[in-house]
Amino acid sequence: MPKVKFTPQNKDIDVEAGTNLLQAANQAGMYIEGDCAGRGTCGKCRIKITGDVNFSPTAAEEKHLSSNELESGWALACQRTVDRDMIIEVPIQKDAHLRKTTLAGGVEELVADPVVEKVAVKLSRPAVNDQTADLERLLGHLERPGLAVELRDLSGFPSLLRENSYSVTAALAGNKIVSIEPGDTTDQNYGVAFDIGTTTIMGSLIDLKTASVIAVAASTNPQNAFGADVISRITHASGGKENLKQLQDKVIEAVNMIIKDLLKQTRVARDRVYELVAVGNTTMSHLFMGVDPTYLAPAPFVPAYSRALEVEAAELGLKINPSGRITFLPNIAGYVGSDTIGVILATGMDLRKDNCAAIDIGTNGELVVAANGRLMACSTAAGPAFEGAQIKHGMRAAAGAIEACDYLEGEIKLGMIDDARAIGICGSGLIDAAAALLDAGLIEPSGRFVNPEDNPEKVPDNFKERLRQGKGGFEFVLVPAKESDTGEDIVLTQGDLRELQLAKGAIYAGLMILLKEAGIKADDLDQVLLAGAFGNYVRKESALTIGLLPPLPPDKIVAVGNAAGDGSKMALASKVIRERAIALPDKVEHLELSTRSDFQDIFIDAMAFQKI
Ligand code: FES
Repeated sequence: MPKVKFTPQNKDIDVEAGTNLLQAANQAGMYIEGDCAGRGTCGKCRIKITGDVNFSPTAAEEKHLSSNELESGWALACQRTVDRDMIIEVPIQKDAHLRKTTLAGGVEELVADPVVEKVAVKLSRPAVNDQTADLERLLGHLERPGLAVELRDLSGFPSLLRENSYSVTAALAGNKIVSIEPGDTTDQNYGVAFDIGTTTIMGSLIDLKTASVIAVAASTNPQNAFGADVISRITHASGGKENLKQLQDKVIEAVNMIIKDLLKQTRVARDRVYELVAVGNTTMSHLFMGVDPTYLAPAPFVPAYSRALEVEAAELGLKINPSGRITFLPNIAGYVGSDTIGVILATGMDLRKDNCAAIDIGTNGELVVAANGRLMACSTAAGPAFEGAQIKHGMRAAAGAIEACDYLEGEIKLGMIDDARAIGICGSGLIDAAAALLDAGLIEPSGRFVNPEDNPEKVPDNFKERLRQGKGGFEFVLVPAKESDTGEDIVLTQGDLRELQLAKGAIYAGLMILLKEAGIKADDLDQVLLAGAFGNYVRKESALTIGLLPPLPPDKIVAVGNAAGDGSKMALASKVIRERAIALPDKVEHLELSTRSDFQDIFIDAMAFQKI
């Protein structure tokens, strides 16, 4: 079997000849960028084949790669198969998720009120006149009727008791003993909170005695290999039990890697971690639990369950205490998941008395409005453009991404993450670039680039060469090849503007429908909370300029960081907040936008680049 070696990561794998390179990378545990699950439409799975590069490019490769690149061995992994021993260079996607881990917290504090309670006991020794069994002796001392214990925790219990002079600590969660430990371990009580995003998975290790976050770690969701959006993942999972298992294994593996990292950072023992609380969209929840998500995709978008699911760690192969509890917080609807529950918890929207809206833009866009004592939520298919999908040089927020763009003194000024040479453009950069080009008068309110041939007077001399005809219409060169890190021009295309219009139009329209339903107008909003990594970095002024948000005073717009993840931490740290989370789906009215005849009209108007 041919061997494929991936560099510079130095991972190799033997695969059958004819295996698709994207799949080979996947089998080798290599993450290669790609948003279209190998359909050849996104152009993101770029790799460089070293050695003999004599191959005929496919139409997809011709579309996404220049002739120079093709000649020097660049190809799309999903378009190539293994035909011999190969060495493949994979461009390193610098830790996009790290930005997400450094976000400011939500607006609520963590409260130490853990579900898991640890009780240290000193039991009396058995005697001829007291032959009470070991377990019953412990249960009698704990005085909690109905406590259950796993066989795995019972098996070594007799020796544990005797070797420790009848001094042990029991970790209790609800009506279950999750651990029996030697001596007094009451000072060690830990849990992990997870935000399972379609793109990024983030974990936090929390000391449950003090409700303090003691370590954070994150990774890319390896399910990305099956497509960037939830629909691609659902489609793959629908292909049979093996496919579903494959997706579940990927996410569990990534979560275990993060747990390992958290434990290594803090030297906390795995067995002292008794709980994992997770949030994620409804599809992520299904895939994490290994539940068939097939019927989420077609109307009427029905999930298999919406309640919070609780299982034992060992059942899912999660590497915390094997008897520890795993809780995935409840979903609200097929496309409004527990990540939205997290946002509501972290922002306290369910407790607030004023009128506010929260917008969480990730791979999908979820919106919540709290007004007049009601809580309403909906989702819009808006996110992928903001995460770089469908954008010619789009990328996630990582080193080298254009994150800021201004029109100043007749020039376009750019800011790159980490001040690196430009590689592409991330969501905040995309919004900024559109706002800057609108300011410069190079984009019409309709979203079309000004045609420099018809309107030469509208295009200043210094932009005449940069606004040019591309393959699919006009495009603006943000960074010329000689200044970019990729050696090619980084451009904003007419197609990119179209994607941005669709995304921002959907968010705006979703918000307007929620406000209408709540009986208030945009002016009545006291605050608009922007959640998620993107929400933290987007510039309010640019979001207002392009009409992503209704015209509001900028000081009413507040970034609240990764509120979904903060919500999972809050629900992990406090049983009262967990109960609040579990009860929330009954309090949130879900609006299905696809059934709203008014959505389309608002959406079409909202696509224009003008303040509405
Ligand atoms: S073009 Fe290969 S994954 Fe999209």
